[in-house]
Amino acid sequence: MTVYSRITGTGSYLPAKRVTNEELAAQLAGQGIETSDEWIVTRSGISSRHYAAADENASDLAVNAARKAIEAAGKTPGEIDLVIVASSTPDFHGSFPSTACIVQQKLGMANNSAAFDVQAVCSGFVYAMSTADAFIRAGVYKSVLVIGAEVFSRILDFTDRTTCVLFGDGAGAVVMEASSEPGVLATKLHADGSQSHILSIPGNLAGGAVAGSGFLYMDGPAVFKLAVTVLEEVAKEALEHAKMQPSDIDWLIPHQANLRIMKGTAKKLDLPMEKMVVTVDQHGNTSAASIPLALDAAVRDGRIKKGDNVLMEGVGGGFTWGAVLARM
Ligand SMILES: CC(C)(COP(=O)(O)OP(=O)(O)OC[C@H]1O[C@@H](n2cnc3c(N)ncnc32)[C@H](O)[C@@H]1OP(=O)(O)O)[C@@H](O)C(=O)NCCC(=O)NCCS
Repeated sequence: MTVYSRITGTGSYLPAKRVTNEELAAQLAGQGIETSDEWIVTRSGISSRHYAAADENASDLAVNAARKAIEAAGKTPGEIDLVIVASSTPDFHGSFPSTACIVQQKLGMANNSAAFDVQAVCSGFVYAMSTADAFIRAGVYKSVLVIGAEVFSRILDFTDRTTCVLFGDGAGAVVMEASSEPGVLATKLHADGSQSHILSIPGNLAGGAVAGSGFLYMDGPAVFKLAVTVLEEVAKEALEHAKMQPSDIDWLIPHQANLRIMKGTAKKLDLPMEKMVVTVDQHGNTSAASIPLALDAAVRDGRIKKGDNVLMEGVGGGFTWGAVLARM
């Protein structure tokens, strides 16, 4: 019997503090930096974002999302075999120990599952889902908790208006389980390390501290150009693998980074905007958390139904990109 992996539960969490474009613009104006709601909305589609409290870490956001996903799957934490957390803003320096281990402990399931982090920046969630899918199809694990969790506000330089207005904090999670029914239909992952310089935190670890900048750096126009190209290519690759056409997609969930990039991807796939899930307006770019946040929103409001074909696409630092095509 063919074993597939299936998404059996979704969950998400946004920290309580919501900051609108107007509020952020007023804060930046106090530092002599000019921006506006109009500029941010026109260039990115973002209207507001959430920021974690000072005492909230990626694992806290992750646990809140994970509890909802586990409950939606009708499971208990003790029934999970593996926890994978995708994050570029882990609880501890160097992700040591991994945020997945902290999540495992906070969910009260210490010592009954394996746990590790995945680092592929904004593609982290599709990398983590692909990893979970491979473990499940190989028969190694039956039940995997996959989480994207970020506190990007900690790595934003609030004197750099070209980046600080674009990102936010949040977490999303899915439970993936072994099933005789599909399930994940295709996964495709890519990386091009020759483009690592266009989106990075350029500092190095030295003497136990960051030498150089510990803030996010982005060459926005270069990222934009590359993202539009690879998102189209990888969508087509995933569809070809599953022997499907763009018209077979019920829902497109691209990485929620910039509405212009997202619209460009939908257009290249000849998909109407109504088939694309958009949450970037409400939470900005939450990196590895953006896809599961959007997925959970559309599952919970009833748009995504059992049997729907959902194409999820990530793109980000590394440079990395990838797609997961799943039947719900
Ligand atoms: C960042 C991004 C929104 C910038 O949009 P853009 O149309 O390329 O704008 P530019 O970078 O060319 O800047 C245009 C002008 O706006 C200014 N500007 C930049 N940020 C601004 C802000 N927050 N408010 C007001 N003006 C701003 C720039 O200084 C520039 O001014 P100049 O022409 O006087 O030099 C866009 O490049 C982008 O979305 N890139 C991809 C980002 C992304 O998705 N990253 C994550 C991938 S995982």
